[in-house]
Amino acid sequence: TLFEQLGGEAAVTAVTTQFYANIQADATVANFFNGINMADQTNKTASFLCAALGGPKAWGGRNLKEVHANMGVTNAQFTTVIGHLRSALTSAGVAADLVEQTVAVAETVRGDVVTA
Ligand code: HEM
Repeated sequence: TLFEQLGGEAAVTAVTTQFYANIQADATVANFFNGINMADQTNKTASFLCAALGGPKAWGGRNLKEVHANMGVTNAQFTTVIGHLRSALTSAGVAADLVEQTVAVAETVRGDVVTA
């Protein structure tokens, strides 16, 4: 699975931590996370990604369409955030083809997150 190829839960969590660091350093998308506990957010998104990448634990959290409803995320903002995931993967030393396969999995939630 992609989960295994990336190095399992620890590796996915490390990439997710860097992903949110990149987001919080980008003023075009950082404000969405004002007041959000980023340690919890990192753990939830890492758990979601582990499941989506073929890991052994099913996602036990909330439905992503309900979670992101009314946030007003645009396609352009989603694309920006995907770019932050791509750079987090690349800076972790993940091979380019595996980066793109992982990004493609994250892209499957675009329709649940984009509402504007
Ligand atoms: C939750 C914003 C993309 C997965 C949240 C929350 C915010 C947010 C503000 C916290 C909601 C709350 O606690 O009240 C955004 C924005 C995105 C984006 C602005 C893109 C522009 C994504 C992507 C994924 C994702 C690409 C998955 C790959 C999650 C998960 C939660 C969450 C798993 C927690 C769900 C739960 O509480 O069970 N998002 N998100 N989000 N987001 Fe996103």
